[in-house]
Amino acid sequence: MPELHFEALHPDFGAKVTGLSFTDRLSQEIVSEIQKAIDQYSLLHFPNQKMNDESHMVITRCLGEPEAEHVTYGKTGKIVYFGTVGNVMDDDSKKDGTDPSTLYQKGNELWHSDSSFRKIPSYFSITHAYEVPGEGGETEFASMRSAYARLPREKQEKIENLSCIHDYVFSRSPVAPVNPKHAASLPPVEHKLVRTNPVNGLKNYFVGSHARSVVGWHGVESRKLLDDLLEWSTQPKDVYSHKWAAGDTVVWDNRCLLHRGAGYNADRWRRRMRQTRVAGKVSTLEEP
Ligand code: OGA
Ligand code: MN
Repeated sequence: MPELHFEALHPDFGAKVTGLSFTDRLSQEIVSEIQKAIDQYSLLHFPNQKMNDESHMVITRCLGEPEAEHVTYGKTGKIVYFGTVGNVMDDDSKKDGTDPSTLYQKGNELWHSDSSFRKIPSYFSITHAYEVPGEGGETEFASMRSAYARLPREKQEKIENLSCIHDYVFSRSPVAPVNPKHAASLPPVEHKLVRTNPVNGLKNYFVGSHARSVVGWHGVESRKLLDDLLEWSTQPKDVYSHKWAAGDTVVWDNRCLLHRGAGYNADRWRRRMRQTRVAGKVSTLEEP
């Protein structure tokens, strides 16, 4: 059995993992070890992978049920499992900074947890980089688990039993137009504000750009709490910025991490990454 080697990326979270290739057969032991490592580290970076869509789907299914990509599903009802991140299209053409697809992805430059706007938000995202810009294009990550642990006890208690509305149309309309069918497929949903990892019992709050309001709170107070929590978790010292290299596969835990794109010059550079997501199992309201 291959031996995995872990090297911490940030004092709070993240590990670089070597000793495995996703194009080799993945044993149940290795998959369990990866799963355990995600519960512990929240983000795993596997450098120098020879990935293709087939092996990408294999690792996705090993970790759970693939999630239907919401844009295609919302617009057309078709289920596809891959999303393309960046400005290179399937036909290999490059879009520039003013193209609607590039502008649409500007929404990813706001701190978010992938699919927090779904009734059952996603579990992991699995992203593989094929082509990266020579400059910029980092993805930044922050842990809402370590941010929660750093909160004063009274604040932890104050937010313990709250829930929030997450709303894609709310978060994305100010950035780029949302297709009406896509919008209709994603009604606002309610989530617990504080979630608990079922394996290690560690808690985190769950906010990000899609978090619209705190249920039962007035607008101003509600906005202030969500903004304060977001700011608390994303202070520069608490952020890990991933500088992508072609061949990187990064798996991150959307239950407890926030991330955002740092941006890049799409007129100048090509950026091509492929992403799948592993679906969660239940609504956060049903989580223990
Ligand atoms: C994502 C994402 C930001 C980026 O892949 O889910 O938000 O770096 N990416 O483009
Ligand atoms: Mn994202």
